[in-house]
Amino acid sequence: MSSQLLKGKKGIIFGALDERSIAWKTAQSAVANGAQIVLTNAPIALRMGKINELAKECNAEVIGADATSDADLDNLMQKSMEILGGKVDFILHSIGMSPNVRKSIPYTNTNHENFLKTLDISALSLHRVLQAAMKADAINEWGSVVALSYIAAQRTFPGYNDMADAKAVLESIARSFGYHYGFAKKVRVNTVSQSPTVTTAGSGVSGFDVFYDYAEKMSPLGNASAEACADFCTMLFSDFTRMLTMQNLFHDGGFSNTGVSARIIEDMQKAAGQQ
Ligand code: NAI
Repeated sequence: MSSQLLKGKKGIIFGALDERSIAWKTAQSAVANGAQIVLTNAPIALRMGKINELAKECNAEVIGADATSDADLDNLMQKSMEILGGKVDFILHSIGMSPNVRKSIPYTNTNHENFLKTLDISALSLHRVLQAAMKADAINEWGSVVALSYIAAQRTFPGYNDMADAKAVLESIARSFGYHYGFAKKVRVNTVSQSPTVTTAGSGVSGFDVFYDYAEKMSPLGNASAEACADFCTMLFSDFTRMLTMQNLFHDGGFSNTGVSARIIEDMQKAAGQQ
């Protein structure tokens, strides 16, 4: 979807790992809409090399930054402003990782070292990014920061493990920092609560296939794709949403407001041999 919504705007995109990543699609959408961007990811992810394909396509430079390192983030802000020739207008935080999820360690018998890493990488990193941006005065007035969340922040999905707690913290940071950055510099901070999406991070959650299908059947519009999420992020970066801040916005085809759907009831009746 291209309408030059971001013409003349500059931004930083975190988290494009491969072509399935929500950040990858968002980079493509932002550039198709006229933006100039810098891409960033953890040094270990850059070593995969995939991001260079995207960088070429988007005519963007890549700067490595571990989102749990304040020094890396300070460097990222300075270098991005040098490359882009000034402050940025938008930042996408599309970062998530839980060592407990990766190692299938159950929530009720968690490893707390891992738990702290989950919170640091997946939630506190948003605070670090915002703090580094504020310190460097790297975002223009009316700029927009978007982070990606999931409905497990509000309701329990057992396979989501400690990522649920991380998302609750992430959404809270968006509200808290959004308040401060709004009064200080008119910078907006929101989270987008996205449908289950087939990506490296998404597919790592136990039972992902089943709850992907479940959400598809529950949502009146079906699951939102990564491409649709990317277009929504582009809109949130644009001037059309300039009074929107401190919100968690459900981008989920209606899942969050559906109690049960006829398709789920039919499936259960079939399973019970009633049809
Ligand atoms: P992905 O695996 O493509 O992206 C996750 C990214 O986080 C990767 O690029 C990875 O390199 C980066 N990352 C991990 N540790 C990092 C660190 N220390 N510093 C910097 N970057 C780091 O998967 P996806 O799905 O595109 O994930 C993006 C965001 O969307 C995450 O916040 C995820 O929780 C969220 N989300 C995903 C859903 C899904 O079903 N895939 C649903 C709702 C939200």
